[in-house]
Amino acid sequence: MTDPVDLSSIAFWSRSPRERDRSLAILRRDRPVSRQRPLEDPVLPGAAGGGYWAVVGHAEVVAVSRDPQTYSSDARHGGVTMEALPPALARATQSIIAMDAPEHALLRRLVSSAFTPRRMTEMDGAIRRAARDIVAGAGAKEEFDFVADVAEPLPIWAICEILGLDEPDRTWILPHANAMTGCRDPEYGGADPIGALRDGLVAFGALTAELIDDRRRHPGEDLISALAEAEVDGERLTDDEIAAFVILLVIAGNETTRHAIAHGVKALRDTPEQWAAVAADPERHREGTVEEMVRWATPIMTFRRTVTRPALLGGHQVAPGESVVLFYESANRDETVFTDPWRFDIGRRPNRHIAFGGGGPHFCLGALMARKQIGHLVAEVVRQMPALELAEPRYVIGNFINAIGVMPARSGALA
Ligand code: HEM
Repeated sequence: MTDPVDLSSIAFWSRSPRERDRSLAILRRDRPVSRQRPLEDPVLPGAAGGGYWAVVGHAEVVAVSRDPQTYSSDARHGGVTMEALPPALARATQSIIAMDAPEHALLRRLVSSAFTPRRMTEMDGAIRRAARDIVAGAGAKEEFDFVADVAEPLPIWAICEILGLDEPDRTWILPHANAMTGCRDPEYGGADPIGALRDGLVAFGALTAELIDDRRRHPGEDLISALAEAEVDGERLTDDEIAAFVILLVIAGNETTRHAIAHGVKALRDTPEQWAAVAADPERHREGTVEEMVRWATPIMTFRRTVTRPALLGGHQVAPGESVVLFYESANRDETVFTDPWRFDIGRRPNRHIAFGGGGPHFCLGALMARKQIGHLVAEVVRQMPALELAEPRYVIGNFINAIGVMPARSGALA
């Protein structure tokens, strides 16, 4: 029996976050795990399968995330997006996030070298300078789009730094990265997200092959050089495996951080006393502001798992082959964990949000990197644009990324 509160309609996914939460709040209170009908009109025919279990409570999302033996991420089940991909496409575009142990642990160890706290500390000064320049560039315009001019450039810059890309590749990468996130908003992702994914696959495949060739001859400090040299069980990674990781990075690190910044700065601007507190002492409020912005935005709304063995989930018997969808957005508004969850509060302690994942083996590899970017960018916005004005955002339709398409802004920049 499917639940009367329907999370599968296009109408549901076209609403604003606050409107969506009216439905999610009913389920959180009464039925944190519910049976849902197949997604209405999926982008890929057949991707909706036979429906899914919707997991909307904080405790339940954490429990599924920490039990990868029962809840698989593997590409052979279509990977981790709500709409299952053909296995070959999932493997070629989702890399380690669509793998289970032991393969996942091995590859994750290899790519982790690019994200160690030491590496992040080394990048800190460069991130700060990039944030300062981006905000100054937008401020010089007086009127601009906060998403395109402030929130978008830094995350893609950081990914290019990690990959060690030269200038021409940097300008090329952003349009592909944007198109590949696979939303169904015609103005934003385009009418053919699967086509965009395939095009991106070909384009990133070609770019990575060139880079690998170059780095084998002239190794550097970048991730591609490390991966080109790395071995798993005595075997070199193939070019396709490296390309898949590059695509995952571009998808995982780009829009996520962008929308955390866009939603987060809007929320901070809408609470003048908190904006003033950050302006007066950015360092003191930095950690609280970043964590609350990430909770508030919850940039990834859903990920999916596939059941591998019979289990009991929220009082329901789930069976092998069934899909389980984790609603991070709802878990981060769970009233049993967050007091007054719709209040934006940079002083929230503890802030047990799970926007970076519920704590299992796939916990976000880029969390430190994202936190650094958000921290530096927000500090610069507050410093350089003390009278910033933001219009209401235009939300993007889709069931994956909690995206803002456009947010007109006036800088009120310092002269
Ligand atoms: C605010 C920004 C971000 C958010 C909200 C976010 C969220 C997430 C989530 C929910 C997961 C899956 C966790 C799970 O299944 O338990 C994930 C995985 C991942 N993220 Fe992030 N992410 C962000 C930024 C980044 C950045 C900047 C990068 C890299 C440049 C990155 C790279 C990755 C990778 C590689 C994985 C896969 C890890 C694995 O499967 O072992 N993310 N992220």
